[in-house]
Amino acid sequence: MTGANIVRTHALARYRAEFPIFREKTYLNSCSLGALSTRSRARVGEYLDQWDRRGAAAWYDVWWGALDQVRGGYAAVVGAKASEIALHASVSTATAVLASALDYQRRPKVVTTSLDFPTVAYQWLAKRPLGVEVVMVESPDGITVPPEMIARAVDGRTALVATSHVYFTSGAVQDITAVAAAAHAHGALCYIDGYQSVGQMPVDVHASGVDFLTAGGLKWLLGGPGIVFLYVRDDVAARLEPTVTGWFAHKHQFGFDPRNVEWHDGAKRFEQGTPALAAVYTQIGGLEIVREIGTTAIREVVSDLTEDLISRARARGLRPKVAARPEDRTAIVMIPSADPPAVVRQLADAGIVVDARPGHVRLSPYFYNTFEDNAAAIEALTS
Ligand SMILES: Cc1ncc(COP(=O)(O)O)c(C=O)c1O
Repeated sequence: MTGANIVRTHALARYRAEFPIFREKTYLNSCSLGALSTRSRARVGEYLDQWDRRGAAAWYDVWWGALDQVRGGYAAVVGAKASEIALHASVSTATAVLASALDYQRRPKVVTTSLDFPTVAYQWLAKRPLGVEVVMVESPDGITVPPEMIARAVDGRTALVATSHVYFTSGAVQDITAVAAAAHAHGALCYIDGYQSVGQMPVDVHASGVDFLTAGGLKWLLGGPGIVFLYVRDDVAARLEPTVTGWFAHKHQFGFDPRNVEWHDGAKRFEQGTPALAAVYTQIGGLEIVREIGTTAIREVVSDLTEDLISRARARGLRPKVAARPEDRTAIVMIPSADPPAVVRQLADAGIVVDARPGHVRLSPYFYNTFEDNAAAIEALTS
């Protein structure tokens, strides 16, 4: 056998069989939506059976426990305590509740960047009529934002620095430890949107020093839409009171007292209402897989797949927009394109699922992808 005939594989390829989409498709779009696993489908089936057979009786001995299980699973993947995790339906609602807890009287400024997912900036742009000032740090290259630039925008009037761990626009990793230090140097808090990092790489919220971090099911944690978490460091939660809230934030939720709000001690004071249980169950299945593999092993395989994809693209004359150093890249590979939606449709016709963002076709491999998936996508993009 010659070298050219040897099929390159990787340590996590054995998980592919758990994701039925690969029977039909070449799926390279996990940064939009992680693939559905047989485990997630089975968990949702269990939930539907419980609902069918037991109705609301399942709340007290099973479903309440499922909420704790998903909080605990989220805590484990980011190195937090379970008491530091609040559940939400979306990053947007989680960010809105966190934004409602800050005091903008003395500190009206919120610093964010031009590369962040817009739902983050919107929370504070919407508060401009209340006197909130949004400072947008512009990326010099459309790929990353040097932490020093963020640091220069922070001062004693800053309430919060809000940016991403991995920029959805380029896949570049931000140094969130440096960003948190820049915020804290002036007494501001630091919020990190970790939706594009948590799952595909190790994240340690305590070591990084961030005050808040969101992530969730949609992408790299394989839980689908409708379930996310907000990490709030214990000591930060203790001194903040949300003004957008709900009964899950109450310390004695089942006291049903409409006259007083007594906040939960930890991050739960940032919750609102009943979580979507179907999403909780798909997330339990996804978290089980991610934790079984471990984010260090995922990062290793995903880095190899990403570098392979980038080199194949470059070898065929494409110029992916990615960070300069491989260690700053993640599994989001942006390929410049004159008509991204048309290219996405053309690939879809060939059974290859990728996505479009302004000016780019976006490809995102995960541990269940293979080097052959990369080859097929680049072949289809360049033929
Ligand atoms: C980095 C990032 N933040 C936030 C979102 C959106 O969050 P949600 O729809 O949960 O508000 C996305 C994508 O969907 C994202 O990529």
